[in-house]
Amino acid sequence: MFIIDLSISSHMIQRPRGTRDFGPEEMEVRRHHEGMMRREAVLHGFKEIATPIFEHTELFTLKSGPGVVEEIYAFQDKGGREICLRPELTASVMRFFVNDLATLPRPLKLFYFGQCFRYERPQAGRYREFFQFGAEIIGNPTPETDAEAIGLAAAILERTGLKDYRIRIGHIGILKEMLAAAGVSGDAALPILQKLDKKAYAEAEGLMAQAGVDARAAEEIISTTNIIGPVSVLGSREGPASDYIRQVCEMLLAMGFSNVSVDLGVVRGLAYYTGMVFEVDAPKLGAEKQICGGGSYSLSELFGGEKVFSTGFAIGFDRTLLALQTEGVEFVKPGVTAFVVPIGDSVRSKAFQMVSELRRAGIAADVDLMRRGIGKSLKYAATIPSRYAVIVGEKELQSDSVTLRDMRSGEQSLVPTEELVAVLRA
Ligand code: HAM
Repeated sequence: MFIIDLSISSHMIQRPRGTRDFGPEEMEVRRHHEGMMRREAVLHGFKEIATPIFEHTELFTLKSGPGVVEEIYAFQDKGGREICLRPELTASVMRFFVNDLATLPRPLKLFYFGQCFRYERPQAGRYREFFQFGAEIIGNPTPETDAEAIGLAAAILERTGLKDYRIRIGHIGILKEMLAAAGVSGDAALPILQKLDKKAYAEAEGLMAQAGVDARAAEEIISTTNIIGPVSVLGSREGPASDYIRQVCEMLLAMGFSNVSVDLGVVRGLAYYTGMVFEVDAPKLGAEKQICGGGSYSLSELFGGEKVFSTGFAIGFDRTLLALQTEGVEFVKPGVTAFVVPIGDSVRSKAFQMVSELRRAGIAADVDLMRRGIGKSLKYAATIPSRYAVIVGEKELQSDSVTLRDMRSGEQSLVPTEELVAVLRA
């Protein structure tokens, strides 16, 4: 049991750096969008899962190396286990898949919503605790799988009402193939790809020189990362990776998503990607403009399972909401349908009976708890907001009626109590 010693003089305790509190108004907006994203995923045939917020640190160091510990919240628990707060969910989903879901029919189309933690320098749009809405399709490496994954991300973003964003699709195979041809293959290519991802060209050049890549090949690799535009920028470029992107783009176009470009500079910071990779930017957000990232990868073999290819993405929930804010996308507050105001002590129980009946009938309703007069109660009802006020007075009750006030127009009418549910439903 925790005992709080109140005799100790108190001071204001601030929340940890990089975290946020969400007030009621903000939570209303967040839950609205979260619900919409869930519904969209279900509409696309995905099913929700949840995994623990903390995991064995090994889950993340296995692929990314021990260096990743610097970027995450890692610690030893009281049993001496190396534990960390999850920095993302893809590794968790694949661990769960290998442990328990591997026998389910494929493809498995899964989605999740939850918080992630990264030990980053906080700034606008970059937090230490943030939320991701993500999805993974496990078990079928085809262009249509990838189009289906990007299609869900695109459909969700479209549904939010966001206007200014771009979907950029690349293929990690293109740069990997070029590096391999220049003599750098496998995990040795990872540090170079990470520098290319950050467009840190001088450092990438240095690493390539160290790895024995000749200057002309290095230059060609760097200029490839600047190829961006409609599918036609692929020109007559041959090879399985280019053909693959062409097919993914064709499918997305058929699905009605037109704000899609090819960008061979999309490399992605995470180490597990193997094929198609994509990112979505909302340019108005400035430095932290990436609102979604994903691609195809294989991780299951690392966690003791058979090698299975998957494709997934995660939408940065917080950044998406910031982007909506910068575009001024309005959100209609749900509030309640009815606010019940008893006039005087004698009708208070009756008011509570009514508010319960409304709630049982599925009508969102609230009731005065402060014993305030009608004027103040109506003012409060307007802030919730409530669409109607139900004024319960002694005199009206004698004829089994209440006064219904339209909070928008101010119009009032007498409604028989037994008709109240029907009237409010209509
Ligand atoms: P990620 O690009 O590291 O990918 O993160 C996805 C999104 O999370 C980013 O595009 C960004 O919007 C948001 N995000 C990342 N860090 C922060 C932060 N510190 N504060 C606020 N938002 C942030 C992944 O996590 C992969 N697991 C995606 C994936 C799923 N790939 C395949 N399947």
